[in-house]
Amino acid sequence: MAVRPILVLLLLLAVRPALAADGRTLFADQCASCHSLAGASGPDGPSLKGIVWRKVAARSDFVYSGALKSLGGSWSPSRLDEFLKDTQGFAPGTGMNFVVDSPQDRAALIAYLRTAR
Ligand code: HEC
Repeated sequence: MAVRPILVLLLLLAVRPALAADGRTLFADQCASCHSLAGASGPDGPSLKGIVWRKVAARSDFVYSGALKSLGGSWSPSRLDEFLKDTQGFAPGTGMNFVVDSPQDRAALIAYLRTAR
């Protein structure tokens, strides 16, 4: 029967946007007080527009900590996951002290951030 794989595919297609939608709500609740996704950075945090695969500490309109500036490289989804799980462990001395304990919430947030190009 070909029905099963089609059902699985439909489920997968349904789940991905749902994950990003959860991420949108989480972002509004937990991140938006410091981070914008649209234009300029604010005084409390850099803009996260296009953050997935963006270079670390790359915004010229935000003054980053030395901890973040010295990390180098780009924000892959897995690096974002590690950072959000334990910001001070990942970048000791970073100005971001907010952590997201739930792996599901981190996955949803990263799925949503991918949509903010
Ligand atoms: C209380 C304010 C605050 C909150 C809440 C906050 N952040 Fe941050 N975030 C910062 C600051 C400040 C920095 C810059 C840190 C530095 O320079 O060390 C930062 C940096 C970042 C960076 C790296 C940006 C870059 O340009 O390299 C990412 C990614 C990030 N935050 C994601 C998030 C997400 C996702 C959330 C919500 C779950 C969140 N932050 C919640 C203040 C905050």
